[in-house]
Amino acid sequence: MHRLKFLERMHEVLQPATYLEIGVRKGASLALSRSRSIGIDPRPAVEKGLPPGASVFTATSDDYFARDDALAPFDGHPVDLALIDGMHLLEYALRDYINIERRSEWWTVVVFDDVLPRDPAQTVRSGKAQSWTGDVFKMVHVLERHRPDLVCLRVDVAPTGLLVVLGADRSNTTLSDRYEGLLAEHITADPQQVPAEILARAGAVRPERLLRAPFWSVLREGRAEGRPRAEGRPTLMRSLEEWSPPPPRPRGPLRRELRRRVDFLEGWKRRRRTGTP
Ligand SMILES: C[S@@+](CC[C@H](N)C(=O)[O-])C[C@H]1O[C@@H](n2cnc3c(N)ncnc32)[C@H](O)[C@@H]1O
Repeated sequence: MHRLKFLERMHEVLQPATYLEIGVRKGASLALSRSRSIGIDPRPAVEKGLPPGASVFTATSDDYFARDDALAPFDGHPVDLALIDGMHLLEYALRDYINIERRSEWWTVVVFDDVLPRDPAQTVRSGKAQSWTGDVFKMVHVLERHRPDLVCLRVDVAPTGLLVVLGADRSNTTLSDRYEGLLAEHITADPQQVPAEILARAGAVRPERLLRAPFWSVLREGRAEGRPRAEGRPTLMRSLEEWSPPPPRPRGPLRRELRRRVDFLEGWKRRRRTGTP
């Protein structure tokens, strides 16, 4: 499935009241929204007809979020669904996530584009390659390691994969507290070292299966009823555990190695969820 088809279906299953997009370009992904929408881009070149409730702001995401009234177009309503697809460098994607999470609720869904490159050549930080992803793939491990409270789902879509993040917590300051250390640890000179499991999309869920998952209704209903986090999040986690994505079925000579890695990853995630050592 192409990422635009997946995003279109996400809007359908989640029915967000508000949608925020960082990186608009021609408006292909913003045009999929049926909600009040904010698009942010320093150089928008919108060609598509945008939905009636959409406003595009010509600004970098950092400048936009420096405003006191960043949620004014939503009349102060939090962000229900966000897409991070602006500058494809780790530090920008990390700041974008921090800024969105501050304006989130537990039902907010944040999607990162470009986290599953196919070829290390796509991931360079300087210069641009064909289908450039930059080093945004590093967000996967940053979130998995430093925010184990979040649910991070890698999605196997064309061309360069998505990461769907659930369980946002605007009171959690771990990422901003550790920001400088994270950059010192993860920003490296080109060429980038891309983990094999990222290139092989190990543990990535099939988009069709994710779209059929039962927890979208938990998010929709929690939002509609304004359920508090203390009530909504445990329901979300139960629904996720029941659904639990199965390991992918790799083909060819990589199969055994990938199966070992996926089993390890799934076991680690299960132990983290259940708190068993
Ligand atoms: C890959 S395109 C976005 C594509 C769009 N989301 C879609 O799917 O149709 C990336 C966009 O991010 C914008 N961009 C670059 N730096 C940015 C920043 N600091 N803040 C917000 N947007 C940025 C670029 O101008 C470019 O238009």
